[in-house]
Amino acid sequence: MNVGIIGSGTMGSGIAQVAATANCSVKVYDTNQEALKKSEVSLDKVLSRLIEKGRIDEAEKNRIQNNILYVDSLKELADADLTIEAIIENLEVKQKVFRELESYQSKDAIIASNTSSLSIASIAGALENPERVIGIHFFNPAPLMPLVEIIPAVQTSEEVKNKVVKIIDDWKKVGVLAKDTPGFIVNRVARPFYGEALRIYEEGLADFATIDWAMKSLGGFRMGPFELMDFIGNDVNYTVTETVFREFYYDPRYKPSFTQKRLSEAGYLGRKSGRGFYQYGDHAKTLNPSKDKDLGNKILDRILVMLINEAADALFLNIASAKDIDLAMSKGVNYPKGLLTWANEKGIDWCVEKLDKLYEEYHEDRYRCSPLLRKMKKNNQKFLV
Ligand code: NAI
Repeated sequence: MNVGIIGSGTMGSGIAQVAATANCSVKVYDTNQEALKKSEVSLDKVLSRLIEKGRIDEAEKNRIQNNILYVDSLKELADADLTIEAIIENLEVKQKVFRELESYQSKDAIIASNTSSLSIASIAGALENPERVIGIHFFNPAPLMPLVEIIPAVQTSEEVKNKVVKIIDDWKKVGVLAKDTPGFIVNRVARPFYGEALRIYEEGLADFATIDWAMKSLGGFRMGPFELMDFIGNDVNYTVTETVFREFYYDPRYKPSFTQKRLSEAGYLGRKSGRGFYQYGDHAKTLNPSKDKDLGNKILDRILVMLINEAADALFLNIASAKDIDLAMSKGVNYPKGLLTWANEKGIDWCVEKLDKLYEEYHEDRYRCSPLLRKMKKNNQKFLV
């Protein structure tokens, strides 16, 4: 299969590696020559490291590299059966590139976007044959993260959807189908991991280190919310939250946090700037968590129940199946288990009671319990995951 990749930055380079490893013939295009060169050099380094680790041999490295051609004209992608775009997150620029690409390709070529925040319908809307457009959303780093969200737009044909599901499976990735709604599955369902942690901090109930400790030591998450925000970058994480909030017509459940906004404004972006919630580098001050188990469990329960509520509501609104919602959170952001499975284990009664207690205390819409959880409690049901 011929695959075209547009944009050879972080995501495009990773996706090219995935497709080339699966033996596709890949052409990578970027407007920036330096970005193309960088992509080629970094792939060489990545593959050499895999040889050192004994994961692949020299022949495999050569095979993968020989499957990729770096090209400086979009026209070169004329023969691609599937093109995945991973350029700057700007609707007008994406539409322009897609229109040009469409003029070179046959009608049945599939054109996909790796966008995190734009609607697939809005990108497809610019084309003469929008039924060929679909969202294929990888996670960073693409070669390592198993999850891929597949997002058909209202215009996308059934045939294109089915073909893409099969391709992602052939590429040995875990594909999940998601509705074309803000944040798709992962970036929507994960919001409370950051938002509720920030809220707990803002209320003065605990400091960053204690909240992170609770989520890791008691919850089994690989990283705490504040460590993760510093890792992602407070600017990037804040923008995702703000976009989701706006796109959901200002539903208070997704309200961004001033704390994070101020850090971002101050240039305290996280690891990349040497300071975020924490300090990094030689003279960094370390913060010690309180390790009070009662407090830690309260923090974990509050963030967890908000995550479960979000996952339940995504199911209630048919954003994805229960199985795909659970797969998305464990394979896309490494949660220790799927949130609906977790809800089953904690008990649906427990979830509803915890949410109602929060609502009673705050009287904020942010704490409203999903109608699905309430209905399941009434009927004594569990999630089918
Ligand atoms: P990046 O900034 O690393 O790379 C973008 C590349 O696109 C650059 O090399 C740039 O030269 C090139 N480019 C810009 N305009 C172009 C054009 N008109 N034609 C051809 N090439 C062009 O960006 P990154 O992080 O790889 O993101 C790309 C896309 O993937 C965005 O839509 C982003 O929302 C999405 N995404 C990003 C993730 C991440 O963690 N970085 C995760 C999942 C999706």
